[in-house]
Amino acid sequence: MTFEKHILCIGAGYVGGPTMAMIAHQCPQYRVTIVDINPDRIAQWNSDVLPIYEPGLDELVKATRNRNLFFSTNIEQGIRENEIIFVSVNTPTKTFGTGAGMAADLQYWEKTARQILEHSTSPKIVVEKSTLPVRTAQAMERILNTSQNHVRFDVLSNPEFLAEGTAINDLKNPDRVLIGSRETEEGLKARNTLAEIYANWVPREKILTTNIWSSELSKLVSNAFLAQRVSSINAISALCEKTEADISEVARAIGTDSRIGSRFLNASIGFGGSCFKKDILNLVYLCRYYGLEDVADYWEGVIKINGYQQERFVRNMLTAMFNTLSGKRICLFGFAFKANTGDTRESPAIYVARRLLEEQAEVVITDPKALDNARIDLADARGTVHFVDDPYEAARGCHAIAIMTEWALYGELDYARLYRQAEKPAFIFDGRNILDPRRCFELGFNVFSIGKRPLTHF
Ligand code: NAD
Ligand code: UGA
Repeated sequence: MTFEKHILCIGAGYVGGPTMAMIAHQCPQYRVTIVDINPDRIAQWNSDVLPIYEPGLDELVKATRNRNLFFSTNIEQGIRENEIIFVSVNTPTKTFGTGAGMAADLQYWEKTARQILEHSTSPKIVVEKSTLPVRTAQAMERILNTSQNHVRFDVLSNPEFLAEGTAINDLKNPDRVLIGSRETEEGLKARNTLAEIYANWVPREKILTTNIWSSELSKLVSNAFLAQRVSSINAISALCEKTEADISEVARAIGTDSRIGSRFLNASIGFGGSCFKKDILNLVYLCRYYGLEDVADYWEGVIKINGYQQERFVRNMLTAMFNTLSGKRICLFGFAFKANTGDTRESPAIYVARRLLEEQAEVVITDPKALDNARIDLADARGTVHFVDDPYEAARGCHAIAIMTEWALYGELDYARLYRQAEKPAFIFDGRNILDPRRCFELGFNVFSIGKRPLTHF
């Protein structure tokens, strides 16, 4: 069969995999190849057990794999044979040198750009899918256009807005697709080629086009605004706990104002995930680079409140449990950074688990999808940690249950049974406000929610 377009994606991660599976599914007339330097990851994508858990992903991959979706480690061949190349490699925070702890580490990106340059023999459209600092596309263009072999490269910015756990729906029905390009004749032509791909299933009015820098900046700002909402509601949750206002009531009261909106106002143990912190740090670094210290401080506050919220959670546990956790068995319900994913990157549960171990507590962790990652995250932790599949087994004989992830299953457990099995006095710390605190209290638990009055029997 001849295909209308040949598309490559470099980087088979949480973004590359689902995004390309969606393109392959919506556009059977295109051939889509995903490559990665990690052979284990590619082997998993080609197996029955995919490397990431994402609802709906298995079906999509099964329907398209080896039909018009291919996973491979042959990056060079991929570059040679495809005219549109998405780059979706990781862009972690730099850990060394100038900008350490703040700026994006662009080494993976630059390596990829050089590889594209080396192996290209025909014109390519290179699409930034990774989240990158403003002006990266320009740097990429400079690297690519040093070519002696007169191959033409057009670089586009096409940031991804999917959220884990809802990735398939987000990709199928996006609020918008953003494409940034140079506003030259060639740039606009490349932009239209990419827009044509999305137009196979996304309404044209949802495909936004901007200049390349606006597109890069919009991705950072979008994550910064989302994270800022979580930090705002979490900051107010601390005040609620002091004043006996209830954060759920406050969130509902403010969220019904259509200018504010009701989503992303769930108070919690703090935001996690691989991107919010990284992208805000990146924004902060950019602001400082351009001498905008006040603007940088403003956004840095979002991260500070997030750290404060996590530490506050541990301190509340310590205070409630008579100022010592030493030798106490504490069960963490959930380890993923949010429900419906096995991803634990930057999960607040990592921080909480480590702090509890520092306090010499014994930690028992349960999670339906994230236990393998939890084991890796805590491999170097000192102290006693157990990983248990069954939540009832995990909680047996524990002094406290702490809810770290809002998995629906934790709302549906038999808390009367959990109470019977618990060490007394029994405590619940609901870091996601998913339980009915009054009902748990009536069963005998001492209940501490976020931003609500504690319900205690003493
Ligand atoms: P990831 O770590 O899951 O995947 C990145 C993949 O790239 C890895 O499999 C890695 O082996 C591969 N890779 C690295 N260097 C390579 C190279 N030189 N050649 C080939 N493969 C290489 O990362 P992710 O979560 O998919 O994120 C990718 C980018 O997308 C990041 O910039 C991130 O900020 C952005 N993003 C992520 C999400 C999300 O929900 N995870 C959402 C939107 C945007
Ligand atoms: C987020 C954005 O929502 C995506 O648009 C973006 O593409 C992605 O980051 C990215 O660039 O990586 P994600 O991190 O997968 O997606 O998940 P979110 O639903 O945004 O949740 C992030 C964190 O905030 C989670 O830990 C979640 O539990 C927490 N959160 C979210 C709250 O504590 N309260 C809320 O009301 C909402």
